[in-house]
Amino acid sequence: MDTMPEKMIIRGGTKLHGTVDVQGSKNAALPVMAASILLKDGTLSLEGVPDLHDIRTMCDLLSDLGASVVFNGHSMKIDVPDKLKTDTPVELVRKMRASSLVLGPLVARCGRAHLPLPGGCVLGSRPLDFHLKGLAKMGADIELRSGAVEAAAGRLKGATITLDYPSVGATENLMMAAALAEGTTFIENAAKEPEIVNLAEILRLMGSPVRGDGTETIRISGVPSLHSATGEIIPDRIEAATYLIAGVITRGAVTVKGISAGFMEAILNKLEEAGAAIDIFGDEITAKSDGPLKGITVKTLPYPGFPTDVQPQMMAALTLASGTSVIHESVFDSRLLHINEFKKMGAKIEVQDNVAIITGVPALAGAEVCSSNLRAGAALILLALAADGESTVCDLHHVWRGYEGLIEKLRSLGAEISYQG
Ligand code: UD1
Repeated sequence: MDTMPEKMIIRGGTKLHGTVDVQGSKNAALPVMAASILLKDGTLSLEGVPDLHDIRTMCDLLSDLGASVVFNGHSMKIDVPDKLKTDTPVELVRKMRASSLVLGPLVARCGRAHLPLPGGCVLGSRPLDFHLKGLAKMGADIELRSGAVEAAAGRLKGATITLDYPSVGATENLMMAAALAEGTTFIENAAKEPEIVNLAEILRLMGSPVRGDGTETIRISGVPSLHSATGEIIPDRIEAATYLIAGVITRGAVTVKGISAGFMEAILNKLEEAGAAIDIFGDEITAKSDGPLKGITVKTLPYPGFPTDVQPQMMAALTLASGTSVIHESVFDSRLLHINEFKKMGAKIEVQDNVAIITGVPALAGAEVCSSNLRAGAALILLALAADGESTVCDLHHVWRGYEGLIEKLRSLGAEISYQG
């Protein structure tokens, strides 16, 4: 992957028009890649893998454990040998919270794992307690020692695990652990995200009889070993939403191609409620707007609710609505930090606890702003596209974790963008 720029200069005010292809889902590809660890002397081949910094971090992590990863275009081949290392390196794990997804498969397959507590986007406290409690219920011995998780087990045992919250990562980790456990595991109050269903599909292709994915109870009967498989990563609904909002916020019309609208109902419903016109044709979705949006209320929730990963982008669009909007961030306890940067461009937003009250303004002015995390960075780019004059968006390394070809895609829609560094 080429070195990506840290700073983007955007001349706002151009209405974006055109069609972009949707990349493969980052949040589906990461757990699926981690599932390769469950193989012994086997190969997981994947199609539709997006080329992103987070995906490269997972490649490095799997390689460090002993797998051999070949990533070519959007095809990936992960060869997993008989023996794997069980210590994960701190410098890779700290780069990305999703590194924790190797914990379940490592313990299940190797009987041991050492995982320094992971990093990633700073979105409030993001503990791993649900993951660890679930693994303990399956018989793993878990200790927290000097900032790292030490997990050890003989063969894990199937168990009934009720999650306190439908955590995406905990559901994924426990599904992977259950695949090699002895007996049947029930994950109750499981996450229902499409990315969970994608992981389940690929586990099934590897020989694991997973049932109930996409519902709140997932049932997995463990098997002694899994086999090589070839799977496909689903399209990225968060990337697609970001481009649809780019069309709406600039009062243009953007079509995203290669995704089913069924994945995006909550987002499309809210855009329509705010006055955008949504058109669905086969695997293409178009969002357009030719005037200001109306103020609306949005609450982020686990799937099928409105995704927290689209909250900053939706907030960007609502800064220019007529009237007042309310956004309640209920998934993470500190995911409203982007608001200070929004205000530099003239947005009017008040925050009370995890609720943002947005008073729409008729126009935004270009400014120099900095990304604090992946989706906040995407939202600042959207604001800059809509603002009058020139904006500089810096700290783009956050954005490259999740958007492949962003500059080229936006330019193809008519955006005026240059970059540095
Ligand atoms: C995944 C996504 C992330 C998305 C999030 C919510 C990936 C790689 N990342 O993150 O983009 O924003 O889902 O849709 O797929 N929690 C605990 N204890 C735990 C686990 C989670 O308290 O053990 C809390 C978190 O702090 C948060 C909430 O549960 O408040 C949801 O987190 P979770 O669904 O686990 O998010 P991730 O899997 O980390």
